[in-house]
Amino acid sequence: MRFRALSLTAGLLCASAFAVAGDAPADTVSATSHLSEGRLLYGRYMAIAGDCAACHTRPDGKPFEGGLPIETPFGTLYTPNITPSTGSGIGTFSDEDFLHALQDGISPSGLPYYPALPYPSYTKVKDDDLLAIKDYLMSLEPSAYQPPENDLRWPFSVRDAMFGWQDIYFDKGRFEPDPERSDEWNRGAYLVEGLGHCGACHTPRNLAAATEPSEAMTGAIVDGWYAPNLTSDLHQGLGRWSVDALATFLRTGLASADPDATDSDPSDAPATAALGPMAEVVHQSLSKLAASDLRAIAVYLKDLPAKAEPGHRPQRPEILTETQYEQGRALYVKNCSACHQDHGQGLQPYFPALRGNPVVNQEQPNDVLKILLLGAPADPTQAFSAHVVMPSFGAVLSDEQLATVASYIRANWGNDAPPVTAKEVKALRK
Ligand code: HEC
Ligand code: HEC
Ligand code: HEC
Repeated sequence: MRFRALSLTAGLLCASAFAVAGDAPADTVSATSHLSEGRLLYGRYMAIAGDCAACHTRPDGKPFEGGLPIETPFGTLYTPNITPSTGSGIGTFSDEDFLHALQDGISPSGLPYYPALPYPSYTKVKDDDLLAIKDYLMSLEPSAYQPPENDLRWPFSVRDAMFGWQDIYFDKGRFEPDPERSDEWNRGAYLVEGLGHCGACHTPRNLAAATEPSEAMTGAIVDGWYAPNLTSDLHQGLGRWSVDALATFLRTGLASADPDATDSDPSDAPATAALGPMAEVVHQSLSKLAASDLRAIAVYLKDLPAKAEPGHRPQRPEILTETQYEQGRALYVKNCSACHQDHGQGLQPYFPALRGNPVVNQEQPNDVLKILLLGAPADPTQAFSAHVVMPSFGAVLSDEQLATVASYIRANWGNDAPPVTAKEVKALRK
């Protein structure tokens, strides 16, 4: 990839004012040779904000050449090659074709795309920002790789079925800034609702896999993980986060507890680490954005009115039996306390506290169980814990033991999330 040599740090890049650093590409593809380097870097930045490479790159594949399987309620889709290859990629796309695809969800041959391409979010993005992405993509080396055929269930295998879906669920149109709000708020809203497509994971979907605008950002299950509520709800959402803590989390994947907190005066600030799909979002996209953009995102999120997940019951601390508690404690001492410490207080900055931890306290046990089953992927973005990983307990502990230890950490040290069953662990194992 031509731009790999340009190492751009978040601080250096600013989406509005561009100070371009690095070497100019020596050989430039003719189709884009008239474009300035600033334009291509701007396009690259916008492609990072849209996290296009995350979906359009398969493991061990070249960036943007596609082939990543995406499981949907309609079956398995393989992402297309979006390098400028004319046979395998999007080399023949005109500017209009590209905008029509991303803003309207319609292919150059006039057929609808599946919403696994997050066009319900990208429809909000300005023409010029999308065309900058196109210019950048067109400057890359073409790849002849052909992704596998989609494996979709009837009737969804017939693309025309998606016309009906678009009629009912797709709300087309560009982002409209709110003149009552600050530029920073509007920039955050534009990024979150448009390229950032945060709602694609954090908003619940109905049976037709469409997100419900009235439930925007109230939390949803993605690939077995739980993408939490991002509204300002005090218990389920970001109500306790400061703008600074949130901006830091978006850049590093870590939120650290207040170091001055003590047992008798515990910090109210959240301490957590992005470990699942969010670790990838942070690693591939958010950690590479300008500090001003991350702050804008945090300002906008912190202003989302509090809204609890639909059908959510008020939290009811459920007490473990004495036997469950003793068994849980024994498992915790043997397997966990060396790192997370006796009272679940953790050891900053290496081991996150489990006490007061938002992941541990989620009503849905999905993320705790996934972390226990899989361990934490070594993610270089998480600068503080790159060398100390959360081990995987999937092969070490039984479903019963995992349920017991998870229930223990969810009910101890002031945590008050409901217990977990072995059945729930089993369901997440596959
Ligand atoms: C969440 C995964 C995901 C993300 C993120 C994503 N895409 Fe895609 N994209 C897809 C899928 C899946 C398809 C194919 C949809 C279909 O076949 O109906 C697709 C199709 C496309 C197409 C049409 C290609 C063709 O050959 O018809 C283009 C162009 C495209 N994406 C560009 C982008 C750009 C630019 C970005 C970033 C701004 C992006 N995508 C981000 C999943 C994604
Ligand atoms: C060798 C040290 C080590 C051991 C042993 C260990 N962990 Fe962890 N754990 C970590 C680290 C490090 C992280 C943070 C990983 C990261 O940031 O990538 C973590 C993260 C977690 C998280 C996610 C916290 C968050 O905020 O996202 C949970 C929950 C957790 N551990 C529970 C446990 C339980 C329960 C056990 C025992 C069964 C255990 N851990 C054993 C090191 C350990
Ligand atoms: C691919 C799906 C996906 C996308 C896209 C995504 N998230 Fe997440 N996010 C998750 C999941 C899953 C978690 C929780 C588990 C984890 O760490 O992966 C999470 C966790 C978070 C958390 C921590 C919340 C808490 O209470 O601990 C914040 C904040 C967050 N995401 C913000 C964002 C923002 C802002 C965007 C858009 C720029 C975004 N996310 C896009 C899946 C996603």
